Amino acid sequence: MSSSGVTLTAPVNIALIKYWGKLDETAIIPTNDSLSFTLSQDDMCATTTAMTVARGVKSKFWLNGKEMDLGHPRIRAVVEEVRKIAKVQGTDETLLDLPVRIASINNFPTAAGLASSAAGYAAATAALGALYGVKGDLSRIARIGSGSACRSISGGFVRWIAGSTSEDSIAVQVAPENHWPSLRWLICVVRATPKAVGSTEGMRRTIQTSPLMPARIASVPDKISAITKAIQERNFRAMAELTMQDSNQFHAICLDTFPPLFYMNDVSHRIIDFVHDYNRVKGSLIAGYTFDAGPNACLFTEQENFDELASVVEALFSDGVETDFVKGMKPERKVDAS
Ligand code: PMV
Repeated sequence: MSSSGVTLTAPVNIALIKYWGKLDETAIIPTNDSLSFTLSQDDMCATTTAMTVARGVKSKFWLNGKEMDLGHPRIRAVVEEVRKIAKVQGTDETLLDLPVRIASINNFPTAAGLASSAAGYAAATAALGALYGVKGDLSRIARIGSGSACRSISGGFVRWIAGSTSEDSIAVQVAPENHWPSLRWLICVVRATPKAVGSTEGMRRTIQTSPLMPARIASVPDKISAITKAIQERNFRAMAELTMQDSNQFHAICLDTFPPLFYMNDVSHRIIDFVHDYNRVKGSLIAGYTFDAGPNACLFTEQENFDELASVVEALFSDGVETDFVKGMKPERKVDAS
């Protein structure tokens, strides 16, 4: 059988209601539902090529040009799961038995709290799925690689339903990418270096030590219902308030973890203060923020306010402080397959 390959691109997603905590670390079953927005493919994305090679050639895996261990449990689990499903769906077993080579590239900083693993595992799952002809939902396979990756399989607003087994823990689209065309994102890279405590270790520590964590888990179902309604109604104020409050609650449980997890830094805190001041001076809530497990800010607003917000943020934070770049994100999403 000759070599064949496929290249696919997946963007990062930004969590509006966060995932933080696993009930099952191997299958990656989360403690709560989460909800995110998948950015455009033109902006921050991972591009992955997967190809079979001739028998006898070694299987290999590269990330950003550096050879990685294909035996890493997460990437191995994804390859095995895709092959298992492909076999059940009737893919030719000689194809499934061939060695595989996977190369993935991110066009943005890796492991710096910018959801690089989400885009990476979504792109790898999509590329492997296409290589082996897998049909149907891929989100639960991407989830095995990195929980939040399941949400990057779809565009637009996506809810990861926690479920309780590997079969029912899946991501579903709540609204398509063109549902809210005026919504714009501004990603401020405060520090583009890898985070000190990875999300797996951080989540484990929070579950084991944070007395606030049970209260957070109990509060999520109401937040998911409220933000889904806000998104459906394109109610910016409600969506922004819920998103900012959830980001703050997530960082509160990180601080409540022992030893504490400090993902934001002084620049992040200044950006939060700035957004609240800006809204107050403007007399209405026109900008919001959210921070994942890192200091980088994801700001959002609507089109009519975007240019002004971007230039004020750039003027205040780009010069002489740690912010490396500020970039506008458009909500379109294209599928780029070759
Ligand atoms: O999927 P992971 O293990 O990279 O965890 C992601 C966790 C957060 O980004 C902080 C929140 C989220 O829902 O994406």
